[in-house]
Amino acid sequence: MLSIPINRPLPSEPRLVTSLPGSRAKAIIERDRAVTSPSYTRDYPLVVARGEGCMVEDVDGNVFLDMTAGIAVTATGHAHPQVVRAIQEQSVLLLHMSGTDFYYEPMVELAEQLAVRAPFPKPQNGKTSLPAKVFFTNSGAESNEGAIKLARYYTKRSLIVAFLGAFHGRTYGAMSLTGSKTVQRAHFGPLVPGVTHIPYGTHASLDHLEQQLFATILPPQEVAAIVVEPIQGEGGYIVPEDGFLQRIREICDRHGILMVVDEVQAGMGRTGRLFAIEHWHVMPDIITTAKGIASGMPLGAILSRPQLMTWPPGSHATTFGGNPVACAAGIATLQLLESGLMANSTQMGEVLQAGLTQLHERFPKISPPRGKGLMVAVDLYDEEGNLDHKLRDRIIQEAFLRGLLLLGCGKAAIRFCPPLVINQDQIHIALNILSDIFSS
Ligand SMILES: Cc1ncc(COP(=O)(O)O)c(C=O)c1O
Repeated sequence: MLSIPINRPLPSEPRLVTSLPGSRAKAIIERDRAVTSPSYTRDYPLVVARGEGCMVEDVDGNVFLDMTAGIAVTATGHAHPQVVRAIQEQSVLLLHMSGTDFYYEPMVELAEQLAVRAPFPKPQNGKTSLPAKVFFTNSGAESNEGAIKLARYYTKRSLIVAFLGAFHGRTYGAMSLTGSKTVQRAHFGPLVPGVTHIPYGTHASLDHLEQQLFATILPPQEVAAIVVEPIQGEGGYIVPEDGFLQRIREICDRHGILMVVDEVQAGMGRTGRLFAIEHWHVMPDIITTAKGIASGMPLGAILSRPQLMTWPPGSHATTFGGNPVACAAGIATLQLLESGLMANSTQMGEVLQAGLTQLHERFPKISPPRGKGLMVAVDLYDEEGNLDHKLRDRIIQEAFLRGLLLLGCGKAAIRFCPPLVINQDQIHIALNILSDIFSS
């Protein structure tokens, strides 16, 4: 184990002190290769030792600007002091008791806080009932697994509509909804039956669903749920056409189908609203979340309108879901999101999109940006105007070598999903690095 001097604050801009990867990173990667599953997708040889805000330091003392937030997770920044304090305080009291079989307050407290914020209809029947019920999980995939079960249980229907390009996770139910890349499915079948995928984000796709599929092979009265990301994440940070999400709501209402919104990537303040679906003023029936909910502690949640959670004791449960330490981190995260970070996401998202628009004007291989808040992407094109995933991959490598951490998504997109604490100077550093790469 390495000893890192944690009382030394990290600089707020990249600082490279070795060639990359450095010798310690190389040694750890060698050990990793020998022992961990080859199914992990590592795009560049970053071996992280510690993080602070938007900066991470590798094991050789190189400091990087992180525009990935550990795949859109560390919403409050790496190791936010308030989150760390909440974790420390909770961990000396109780590490685990299993909310499946016992009670403890942090789980109830976070459930209450999420329930009052869920974009569901406000209850009419007295003061005590809340607009949502909450089931805690350990991940995004597990949240989606539970949502499928809940939708089937409640509706007593089995079919599900999902979208091409969607990513909902890699466990069997979630993988069966995922429509992103064949490598995520190849040789794993048979998958959960009854899932139909249609193209994402367009009215033409919903026309096809209603006019063709519902009339021929997909009886709407047997469809339990339409599962949709409010902004498609892994699929390319795709913002749907105006009215698309509202129309899904209408289709669901017409046929007694549940609208399940996967907020795993877009939720928890990333787009400037707690739940991205709020941008469209649509009230879904079920929301799944994870990633940013606890700033990096493994936690996810299924939120449903209260009347849907009719499943009886024992029908759905999980040993670790709603762990007290993760819930304490979740409560601290919510507080930070609402006391400035969501607003920062909106403001910094505008700065980022303005800067990327300028880059697009200077370098036509970069598309205009798209997204909301700090969920932003650009596509990369070749000379002929075709999407160019090789160029995208090369830019990501070169950015790493200059101290900027980026991730791809979609066919040839670079996504920008930094911690929501990012400031204007750091956004300009990222834009300058990209500009240098394209100028060289
Ligand atoms: C929208 C969405 N849903 C679900 C998942 C799966 O989450 P997890 O990796 O925590 O299982 C992801 C992960 O990227 C996601 O982006």
